[in-house]
Amino acid sequence: MFTILDAIQKSAIRIKDAIDKKDLGYSQEQNSSGETQLQLDIQSDLILEEEFSQIPMIHSIASEEKNESALLNKDGNIYIAYDPLDGSSLVDVNLSVGSIFGIYQDSFSPRNMIGACYVIYGPRVELVYANQYRVELYLLQDGTFEFMREIKLKEKGNIMAPGATQQFWPAHHKSMIDRFFSEGYRLRYSGGMVPDLHQILLKGGGLFSYPGADDKPDGKLRLLFEVYPFAFIFEVAGGRAINGHIRALEIEPRHIHDTSPCFFGSKYEVDEVYRVYNS
Ligand code: F6P
Repeated sequence: MFTILDAIQKSAIRIKDAIDKKDLGYSQEQNSSGETQLQLDIQSDLILEEEFSQIPMIHSIASEEKNESALLNKDGNIYIAYDPLDGSSLVDVNLSVGSIFGIYQDSFSPRNMIGACYVIYGPRVELVYANQYRVELYLLQDGTFEFMREIKLKEKGNIMAPGATQQFWPAHHKSMIDRFFSEGYRLRYSGGMVPDLHQILLKGGGLFSYPGADDKPDGKLRLLFEVYPFAFIFEVAGGRAINGHIRALEIEPRHIHDTSPCFFGSKYEVDEVYRVYNS
C-alpha cells in the first residue's frame, strides 16, 4: 500500500505543477460522461497512468477519462479507479480541484475496497488517505507530504453543500434542505466535490447532497470515481454515505461509468436524509 500512496504523492506533485504552470485550454475530445476534456484532464490522466504502470501489484486501473479499464499486470491483485482531476473546469476561476482514488483488491466491487484517497489542490496541497481503520490528513511541504492529523467526524455538523440544479430537485428533497437551513445550517458549495467534501470532513460534519432530479434521475456523480472513495472515507471517519435508501458501498456498479444519487455527512444529517427518503 505504501508504494501506491507513494505513486499518488508523486503524481500529485506533478499534477499541481501542471495546474500552476500551464494554461492548456480545451482538447477536441469528450470523456465518457460527455464532458469536453481539458488538456489538463488529459495530462493528469497521463501522469497517473505513468506512475501506476510502474507498480507490479496493480492488476488494473480505471480512469474517469477513459471508456474502459486497462489491465496493467495480470499477476497483480490491486485495482485502482480514479478521477485524475475532478472539477477541472474550476481551474479557470482559480477554485480548488482534486484527484480522487478508490483502491480495491481483486475487482472493482465496493465490497472489495481496501482504501481510498484524495488530493486537494487549493491554496495548499493536502492529501487525505483512508484504510479500513483510520483517515489521515497530510500536507505537502517542501516536496513531501507530512502527516498532520487523524480526521474524525462529529455526530452533527453545521454546513450544507446541496448539489444539482434546484429547479429540478424533487419536492421532498427541497423541503428537507430548507428545513436544514431553517435549523441554522450555513451554505458551503463551491461546485467542486473534493473541496466541498473536504470542508465537511475538516469542520467535523455537515451534509453534501447530490440527489436524483428530474433532469438527472441517477444523479451526476460517478460511483467508481467519486462516490465509493468518499463513501469509504466518510464511513471510516465515523460518518455516513447513502444513496437515499442503502449505503453507497452496497450499490454494485453495472458499468464503470454508472452514476448514483448520493449523500455524505455526519450521522445526524444522513439519518435525516434516510428518514425523508424512506417515509
Ligand atoms: O463531477 C464533477 C463535479 O464538478 C463535482 O466535482 C461537483 O460536486 C459537481 O460536479 C457539481 O455539479 P453541479 O454543478 O451540478 O452541482
